[in-house]
Amino acid sequence: MKILVTGGAGFIGSHIVDELIKNGHEVVILDNLVTGNKNNINPKAEFVEGDITNKNLDEKIDFQDIDVVIHQAAQINVRKSVEDPIYDGDVNVLGTLNILENMRRYDVKKIIYASSGGAVYGEPEYLPVDENHPIAPLSPYGLSKYCGEEYIKLYNRLYGIEYCILRYSNVYGERQDPRGEAGVISIFIDRILNNKNPIIFGDGNQTRDFVYVKDVARANLMALDWKNEIVNIGTGKETSVNELFKIIADELNYEDKPIYDKPREGEVRRIYLDIKKAEMLGWKPEVDLKEGIKRVVNWMKQMQG
Ligand SMILES: NC(=O)c1ccc[n+]([C@@H]2O[C@H](COP(=O)([O-])OP(=O)(O)OC[C@H]3O[C@@H](n4cnc5c(N)ncnc54)[C@H](O)[C@@H]3O)[C@@H](O)[C@H]2O)c1
Repeated sequence: MKILVTGGAGFIGSHIVDELIKNGHEVVILDNLVTGNKNNINPKAEFVEGDITNKNLDEKIDFQDIDVVIHQAAQINVRKSVEDPIYDGDVNVLGTLNILENMRRYDVKKIIYASSGGAVYGEPEYLPVDENHPIAPLSPYGLSKYCGEEYIKLYNRLYGIEYCILRYSNVYGERQDPRGEAGVISIFIDRILNNKNPIIFGDGNQTRDFVYVKDVARANLMALDWKNEIVNIGTGKETSVNELFKIIADELNYEDKPIYDKPREGEVRRIYLDIKKAEMLGWKPEVDLKEGIKRVVNWMKQMQG
């Protein structure tokens, strides 16, 4: 198949591209490199530098030729979405709508969409959070990602464009930028490797569901065969930030303590995803947290020479 991966120069998108190419697909990447990196781009993919909000996108991309769009490009910074909700909405809502409009115009059959299990549900009413949990985002980012979902479902009802919406938990792995605000695992490892104490916001008992990026990439590949589904992609396991710190410290033989700082506002206390649906569809995570962290450590050591 010929697949357009938006955000294919980014952290998750680039792993999806690698996996698609490994499986014999032809890939076109659309990315404006705002947070993506040219070094992430698989040389076997065609790279188009451009913005998903560009109204004349069809001058850059031959949509007629595309079978499926895997839509990863987004404004992903929660804090930035609070500071500049208009930019966030522009990229995540109008950018997604622009992709859908091109798909409708040129009869592209299917979209696979990166949504956020950490952001769309808001403060969990029960745990683990399944796909039927109420939607109550706590940030413009959470809402804009959810708007993308709703436009996708609308385009399915109106024009029959097939979809699969994947709601990722906290994704980590090689190529995650430690300078971003997300990606606590990369940030902790980077600080330790640079002789700085990791900073924990709050008491460290807040929990998250950390899923390894190559497991997420594999879910995207499998989603090529899933029809009109909304699926949580996580591990179904809850890990506190203190536990996470300990695993990373052990891996790096780090004996110092973390620094505890004020809790961050607007962050949920506990969340982890129910992944029964994904498992029913044949996907499950294969790389556990310890092994995944080992891989990120190796990668970061290599990067830092
Ligand atoms: N990282 C996570 O834990 C996580 C969790 C849930 C959902 N997601 C979703 O996964 C997707 C990928 O996130 P990521 O962590 O790989 O982030 P990333 O920033 O590494 O990737 C996003 C990519 O999109 C590109 N991009 C941004 N705005 C663009 C625009 N206007 N036009 C074209 N390209 C643009 C960036 O240059 C980058 O390459 C996003 O949709 C994000 O919302 C990520």
